[in-house]
Amino acid sequence: MSSRRKFIKKLGITLPAITLLGVQAYEVKGASILAEKKKTTPIKPVVISTWKFGFSANEKAWETLEAGGKALDAVESGVQVPESDPNVSSVGFGGLPDRDGNVTLDSCIMDETGNAGSVAFLQGIKNPIRVARMVMEKTPHVMLVGKGAQDYAVAEGFEIEDLLTDKARTRWEEWKTDANYKPEINVEDHDTIGMIALDKHGNLSGACTTSGLAWKMHGRVGDSAIIGAALFVDNEIGAATATGKGEAVMKTVGAFLIVELMRQGKSPQEACELAVQRIIEKNPDSKNFQVGYLALNKEGQTGAYSIQKGFTYNVFDPNKKEQMQADHYYETDVRSY
Ligand code: GLY
Repeated sequence: MSSRRKFIKKLGITLPAITLLGVQAYEVKGASILAEKKKTTPIKPVVISTWKFGFSANEKAWETLEAGGKALDAVESGVQVPESDPNVSSVGFGGLPDRDGNVTLDSCIMDETGNAGSVAFLQGIKNPIRVARMVMEKTPHVMLVGKGAQDYAVAEGFEIEDLLTDKARTRWEEWKTDANYKPEINVEDHDTIGMIALDKHGNLSGACTTSGLAWKMHGRVGDSAIIGAALFVDNEIGAATATGKGEAVMKTVGAFLIVELMRQGKSPQEACELAVQRIIEKNPDSKNFQVGYLALNKEGQTGAYSIQKGFTYNVFDPNKKEQMQADHYYETDVRSY
């Protein structure tokens, strides 16, 4: 694309319109837009993550970002905090199992070059995000699943461990007494950790990792392993991540949708709201489940929105380190579905 065409594209007006406007008007308008752009210095670094447990994940990621490190390294190290924490019952070690008592993990990662890696239905590996990164960087593939993903992790030096803690086993035993499949919204302020970051170099990356829905069917894979659903990064535009009912996110390709909406000029907040709106339009039962979205653009602006109230998220930038409640669509306090 010629530089004039690129410039015209930036102005957001078509060639015939430019011709009609004439060169002088075009230059005046261009100058004012450029001046406006100059005023908004990007905020960086920035890291944003889901749920209360994301705060300590942000603290870990911030160490890398503050030191001038890469967003990719920051998000990978950040999400390992809840992955390794046995008290977090929805991510990694200590995650609640499927209905047959197996802890099965989904994770994905995406970097500033558009590279992506993921693992799904992975068992016995405490930090699946590290395996996802290896899939991205060391294999010709994007996604490995199940036994193949585990074999690959072992070949890379990972140990197979029992991820079902006594606490999670007890809860599973309790659940089995009536085996009622009724997962709850926002319980313990937990679900997937999704984290997206913009580093000092202006590059974006993201990571997402979960043990998925408690008591899910054996073999179920959710959005957290699916690039475009729970995570998408386009270094020209921005990044987005998702938490909540993975099936609803997958069916609307939520994170990709948010990034594309930002490409069309929406702010991160507007893009998250439109993506939630899309789920509500497509799901007559949307009152009964939760989905939360986070977005971050190249300017370091953030957005957060969820279907239900109770979606906590964390934003760190040079001016703040805050835990916040996302705006949400339904005011009613729906607790379960
Ligand atoms: N968002 C997590 C899952 O549905 O598995």
